[in-house]
Amino acid sequence: METVLSGIRPTGNLHLGNYFGALKNFVKMQHENNCFFFIADYHSLTTHPKPEDLQGNVRQVLSEYLAAGLDPEVATIYIQSDVPEVAELYLLLNMNAYLGELERTTTFKEKARQQSENINAGLLTYAVLMASDILLHNAHKVPVGKDQEQHLEMTRKFARRFNQMYGVNYFNEPSAYNFGEQLIKIPGLNGTGKMSKSEGNGIYLFDDPKEIQKKVMRAVTDSGPTVKNQEMAEPIKNIFSLLEVVSKPDTVSFFREKYNNCEIRYGDLKKQLAEDIIHFTTPIRERIIEISSNDEYLRKVARMGAEKARASASKTIKDVREIIGFKPF
Ligand code: ADP
Ligand code: TRP
Repeated sequence: METVLSGIRPTGNLHLGNYFGALKNFVKMQHENNCFFFIADYHSLTTHPKPEDLQGNVRQVLSEYLAAGLDPEVATIYIQSDVPEVAELYLLLNMNAYLGELERTTTFKEKARQQSENINAGLLTYAVLMASDILLHNAHKVPVGKDQEQHLEMTRKFARRFNQMYGVNYFNEPSAYNFGEQLIKIPGLNGTGKMSKSEGNGIYLFDDPKEIQKKVMRAVTDSGPTVKNQEMAEPIKNIFSLLEVVSKPDTVSFFREKYNNCEIRYGDLKKQLAEDIIHFTTPIRERIIEISSNDEYLRKVARMGAEKARASASKTIKDVREIIGFKPF
């Protein structure tokens, strides 16, 4: 069985894009692989969050992943800072990471531009910490989006460099986990582009019904088709894409037919979409509320995850220390 590892930045609530584009696949994947899911709270320190915000975000993200179906009995779900072994591997890998290559990292250059008043060393070595997360469990596969591919490439480079330096074949070179056909992109409802936190067009799993209704009723449309089987403009396609993931096939074909016959009323379409999103998110939202207020359960999940993760991590650290030449007297 392959080891798959996924890191999640604790940046607040999850939207439908995160759910259908990632989380839903993770829920399935956990039964087919040896999965590690962790919340990257060390990574989030590069932006200097307030302690209460950091804590709140970790609680929220953990609760949302559990509510959506990640199972702590099946996968190893942990919080990065509960496994301090990663900090040691990070220190060791930093000795073989060169300033030039770190400065050339696309995400570093981007962040340095965005937060020019806070270009800290953690930001520069972000990829080294990410490589440490992955190599700590010698993961074979890592599900990553396009923006993280370069970090995975650097992880392979660090693994190779370590192996060559010490003449061992210790670290795997991890590759991207490919969801293949199943990968879908969820659009926003503001006309163009994908649903994204930074675009401000997210419909969140945690949104209440009123909020969802408001967001969907505001969706961009056009003046309607004027000839039969008219090609849909992008905003309309986007509404149908969302309908396809949350509604019954009958509902989708009903509205498609209406569109093709120029009989569509966008108000009805939006009302149906809002209703079906609410129907889908309500049970998840209820579980999020229940889980996030259950400290005892969250503590138990975090403890279980940390135990499993540390068992795997401490073995790696012990091996790496020996390879490097730290020998106990
Ligand atoms: P955001 O920028 O909106 O917070 P991230 O870029 O952090 O989202 O993405 C987290 C995960 O969710 C990634 O695996 C990404 O591929 C997935 N994801 C985010 N938005 C979408 C979307 N609109 N459609 C499909 N998948 C998405
Ligand atoms: N860098 C990832 C992101 O921004 C989060 C992350 C940290 C990660 N460590 C990881 C992802 C290890 C995969 C594997 O989304």
